[in-house]
Amino acid sequence: MRFTFYGHATFSIEVSGKTFLFDPFFTGNPLIKNIEIDKIKADYIFITHGHGDHTGDVVALAKSTGAVCVAPAEIAGWLSKNGVEKVHGLNHGGPVSFDFGKVRAVNAIHSSSFYDGTYAGNPVGYVFTTSGGNFYIAGDTALTMDMQLIPLWAKLDFSVMPIGGNYTMDVADAIHAADFVKCPTVVGVHYNTWPPIAIDTEKATAAFKASGKKLLLPAPGTTIEL
Ligand code: NI
Ligand code: MN
Repeated sequence: MRFTFYGHATFSIEVSGKTFLFDPFFTGNPLIKNIEIDKIKADYIFITHGHGDHTGDVVALAKSTGAVCVAPAEIAGWLSKNGVEKVHGLNHGGPVSFDFGKVRAVNAIHSSSFYDGTYAGNPVGYVFTTSGGNFYIAGDTALTMDMQLIPLWAKLDFSVMPIGGNYTMDVADAIHAADFVKCPTVVGVHYNTWPPIAIDTEKATAAFKASGKKLLLPAPGTTIEL
């Protein structure tokens, strides 16, 4: 699997011949400048919740990539209203089958509305099971006991978790979350974008290491193999 980071909580994952783009936020993202967003490819775009730092460029990217947008039902409706044609709405519950495997929307402890206050449903994370590997995208969330359910559904190869604190889990809670989901490999996101979520990345990496886990922090614009 290949993971490409675009800064903040925007990234893509290539697995089983498909490219998934998550929470596209390029315009106004201070961590990724000088990127030609019309060159970004995606077969699917997944949205975790309605906040602007997760949906800012979704309509534009849905149109430029032709991807299927997968999102909580209320966001799916908003996308359709905004002219996005290929939309799959879902909610917390049983897994949904796609041509690459299965996706389950899971609980995220956060809030979810659009920049203009429009209700955007409940925020979610996603658990993916595919022939090329399994992974958990936490979305914006606090640490929650519900993460302990995830090993019932998937033996994970890696997780993507927010680590910046203030709006989400911090590093210490992400380490607990890694224990809850029974997977030691975590890609950290949602940090160092703005002062409230600034962290010491060396300390973060060391804290994961001290607990027998691995925190990966690819630089914006780079790709890693997982
Ligand atoms: Ni948020
Ligand atoms: Mn956010």
